[in-house]
Amino acid sequence: MDESWVNSAERIGADLHLELSGPGGRRAALIRALREAVRDGRLTPGTRLPAYRSLAADLGVARNTVADAYAELVAEGWLTARQGSGTRVAERAKPLRPAVEARRRASPRARGPRHDLRQGTPDASAFPRAEWLTSYRRALQQAPNEVFGPGDPAGRVELREALTEYLARARGVRTEPGRIVVCSGFAHALRLLFGQGGGGALSGPLAVEAYGLGFHRELLDTAEVRTVPLPLDERGARTDLLGRERAVLLTPAHQFPTGGPLDPARRAAVVGWARARGAVILEDDYDGEFRYDRKPVGAVQGLDPERVIYLGSVSKSLSPALRLGWMVLPERYVDGVLAAKGEREAWASVPDQLALADFLSRGSYDRHVRRMRQRYRARRDRLVAALATHAPHVRVTGVAAGLHAVLGLPPGTERSTVKAAAWQGVALDGLAEFRHPATDMAAHDGLVVGYATPSEHAYGAAVEALCGILPPDDGPPDDAPGSTRTGT
Ligand SMILES: Cc1ncc(COP(=O)(O)O)c(C=O)c1O
Repeated sequence: MDESWVNSAERIGADLHLELSGPGGRRAALIRALREAVRDGRLTPGTRLPAYRSLAADLGVARNTVADAYAELVAEGWLTARQGSGTRVAERAKPLRPAVEARRRASPRARGPRHDLRQGTPDASAFPRAEWLTSYRRALQQAPNEVFGPGDPAGRVELREALTEYLARARGVRTEPGRIVVCSGFAHALRLLFGQGGGGALSGPLAVEAYGLGFHRELLDTAEVRTVPLPLDERGARTDLLGRERAVLLTPAHQFPTGGPLDPARRAAVVGWARARGAVILEDDYDGEFRYDRKPVGAVQGLDPERVIYLGSVSKSLSPALRLGWMVLPERYVDGVLAAKGEREAWASVPDQLALADFLSRGSYDRHVRRMRQRYRARRDRLVAALATHAPHVRVTGVAAGLHAVLGLPPGTERSTVKAAAWQGVALDGLAEFRHPATDMAAHDGLVVGYATPSEHAYGAAVEALCGILPPDDGPPDDAPGSTRTGT
């Protein structure tokens, strides 16, 4: 065995922090403190305790006090004492933490469903490990030492430059590195913009699409931002109904979750509204790269960079685990957002930022997105074909782009279908999950089916299971909100 390891293991006890307090004298206090340390996992099974003499010196107690305490805990089964191997924490003295961890791992959420058709995650098995590693290695090799000190809250300039080029080319975003602030994703961007209980660069009321991600609404609620739902129709959000709100949050390239793009006339109109009212548009471009059989829809930001805050992240394109995102800001918001971030980068790992900069500037990001676009398009086609064969009465919409589809269901069947799905080990969400509680637009029954989450080998079985839980043909299908009959 490595000698240095033995030594450090032997020394572990010397650094053990024990508070001797409470009734019953030093011996009782030491017994309590050691028992507590084992119970809460600070002393793990097998750990060798310090010799009597050294712990006694550390704690300022008599050697016999330590010897008595150890003997008591050996008798109780917390410790073991063997000739030649000293006193150790007993193997069967299970600390609390592993028990909690075991419980957490055993929970249904941690175990995950048999077939995961929830929207929200890309195919984790397709993360480009080798290319990311190459970029990471290159980034570390070339990084100046300052990279390993406190980070600039704006983000590394290398990343902001690479994003400026990429977003202009791929998404029609007009900006320069000085207006980009790196963050840890869209949710973080919302927190930075609205602050907690006020104090952010923006304040409400904020118009939002009547269907959207509940998590984002909760986050805004926590920040005490009142959200006003905008109804949707087949042309996207009813931006013509915008009134006195200070800002609007939209998913113009691919309405989340119903799936269509915002109508071109409405894109122009919403910019007109923002100019006229001195308001701002928050553009959530969460999966703009993934479009299949329609022309790319560029960012609304390109229409007026001073009226739009453009928000993006790698959560759909690479992985939500990286926690890397960006805000492209009108000039007047840059200082406020940087102030909200604080003096040092506290969110987005700087080496990761450099790796992403390399990944973008060497074309690896483009290659990965193209590869994934093909993969997701094939999955989308497979889903649509399976439904056409096994459930032709189910209308599929929102499939021209993105990583999920919406399946219209007969009225009144959504809740029971989601339950039946869960029963069969198929995880997916009903449309109601995404509905703003205050909207009065007509509700439609439907399922939001994410087709990116399963790995390639698990996908076929997931689609088969999905077809098995859909309600039978029972009259005309219900249209999903914002859907069109052409399946945009
Ligand atoms: C509607 C929507 N916006 C934004 C995001 C990205 O969120 P984040 O960057 O916080 O992971 C997601 C999820 O990936 C989403 O579904």
